[in-house]
Amino acid sequence: MNLIKEVKKKREFFGLPDSVVKRALVESKDDIKEARSLLRKYFGVFLTNRVLKGKGDLLGIHMSSKKRDYGEFYSKILKGVDDVGSVVDLGCGVNGFSYEYLPKGIEYVGIEAAGQLVELMNVYFKEKDFDARAVCLDLFDVEGVVKILRKAKKSRVVLMFQVIDALENMKRDFSKEFISVVMENVEVLVISLPLVSLGGRKKFAVRRKWLVDFLIKNFDVKKDFEMFGERIICVRK
Ligand SMILES: C[S@@+](CC[C@H](N)C(=O)[O-])C[C@H]1O[C@@H](n2cnc3c(N)ncnc32)[C@H](O)[C@@H]1O
Repeated sequence: MNLIKEVKKKREFFGLPDSVVKRALVESKDDIKEARSLLRKYFGVFLTNRVLKGKGDLLGIHMSSKKRDYGEFYSKILKGVDDVGSVVDLGCGVNGFSYEYLPKGIEYVGIEAAGQLVELMNVYFKEKDFDARAVCLDLFDVEGVVKILRKAKKSRVVLMFQVIDALENMKRDFSKEFISVVMENVEVLVISLPLVSLGGRKKFAVRRKWLVDFLIKNFDVKKDFEMFGERIICVRK
């Protein structure tokens, strides 16, 4: 039996890259139920029926984007960053639907594991004739990510909004390695960390000192502020 195929028979997982499913299978020692439950933990909360059906304002439905006023959000993040050529959005969720709030004429590339979201965004980009595309890729495919970054128009601004936890859950300490490689190929990196849990209930004691210390030690931290329940940190080389 092909275990990857078997796991992907559940509709919410069929669009995930095989490498993501394989990691869950390794972690669950090839137990299909357990692998699905891990994937549900990592990805399932974002793949709700309303999001998958792709009706209405997806930015307002998706858990991590619904609190944002994107106009204000991007203008604060990009203020002082001259000549932005492209925005590459790693683990973009449904952020691609916010393209209109970015400065005019920018190339947008969203990288996302959930294939269903990628398809929805690509249909939208085509309809609107935007200089934008979404790619279904596992961020652990670092070579694939670097290829995309190298091709993007300079100056390149990379977004990692609320993805550090997802990466760390899958592989501890992967983010530091990953950020170092990303920084070799971009001009600006913007990281956001949730200050409250995604359900919004309990207050997080999220200090993530290890990440902030790492960023301060290795890069030039240009901005560090809180907005819409997120801590935003912008760094340059
Ligand atoms: C909390 S959501 C944040 C979405 C978006 N960045 C935002 O802030 O609105 C995390 C996203 O990262 C994606 N993700 C998690 N692990 C990933 C991986 N290994 N490769 C690609 N995408 C991944 C998830 O599918 C999910 O859409």
